[in-house]
Amino acid sequence: MSTLTRSDSTVELRGGVPIPLIGLGVFRARAGGETAVAVRAALRAGYRHIDTARIYGNEADVGKGLRASGIDREQVFVTTKLWNDDQGFRSTLDAFEASRRRLGLDVIDLYLVHWPVPDKRLDTWRAMEHLLETGKVRAIGVSNYMARHLDELLARTENPPAVNQIELSPYNWASRREVLDLCAAGHIAVEAYSPLTKGRKLADPPLAAIAKRHGKTTAQVLIRWALQKGFIVLPKSSRPQRIAANADVFDFDLTSKDMAALDALDQGLVTGWDPTNAP
Ligand SMILES: NC(=O)c1ccc[n+]([C@@H]2O[C@H](COP(=O)([O-])OP(=O)(O)OC[C@H]3O[C@@H](n4cnc5c(N)ncnc54)[C@H](OP(=O)(O)O)[C@@H]3O)[C@@H](O)[C@H]2O)c1
Repeated sequence: MSTLTRSDSTVELRGGVPIPLIGLGVFRARAGGETAVAVRAALRAGYRHIDTARIYGNEADVGKGLRASGIDREQVFVTTKLWNDDQGFRSTLDAFEASRRRLGLDVIDLYLVHWPVPDKRLDTWRAMEHLLETGKVRAIGVSNYMARHLDELLARTENPPAVNQIELSPYNWASRREVLDLCAAGHIAVEAYSPLTKGRKLADPPLAAIAKRHGKTTAQVLIRWALQKGFIVLPKSSRPQRIAANADVFDFDLTSKDMAALDALDQGLVTGWDPTNAP
């Protein structure tokens, strides 16, 4: 039986902040209803972690869904991200205030630099440190940072990122090994985005065979794979039934043979931005 339990179970980030292992992603969830409905459905299904970003255009709806759920603010972990246009010291602080206002929250649990913008990212990190020191965020981190971006940052800060959020699934994890090793060595938690390959591989025969053997869906197997790899996982859906099903991954274990078969599916798949060659 499963060694990991419940959709709200947490791990501790650097600095001791607990973060739930499964978060609802809301990229491409529309503002004006769809996002708030998804957030409420997720909270009803036991999620306690929502992942948004300024560029998704739905921060206000995330706030609405949260308030409408009736669940205490303190029980839900909310992440948002700084968009590329807003990088730089002063503009990061301003963008953070605007995100905070849209979300309707006093404190953001995790604020991420969305992308390693050249020339600006070190000034941006100074602003992130300032937000952490003033208690406006509980943790700070980065996204789409590959090994050289992390190396550069780690050499210049006493506040390493708590999190690196990158695209991860069995179809691309091996090509990310260098950055994964660096995160493990530096106690940087890894968040897996696009864990369902944006839907592209959900009918892949070897994946489907494993799912069938466990009586689970292929989406559930991909989410379970990410958890067993030690990643925090961020599946997106706007449909309440799928949202609930995607968190129903605590009643089975993938065997070491299943994990090896999934690990072997790597083909360097990138479904969104590819930060591999970002300067
Ligand atoms: N930091 C970054 O640069 C970055 C980039 C991309 C994503 N992210 C984060 O990671 C989250 C997830 O990534 P993602 O949105 O790219 O893709 P994903 O979670 O891999 O896949 C989402 C797609 O799968 C479908 N889906 C969800 N559950 C399903 C199920 N049980 N069966 C069949 N189809 C299912 C969804 O459709 P329906 O909604 O119709 O169910 C949607 O089309 C994002 O929402 C965002 O929070 C971050």
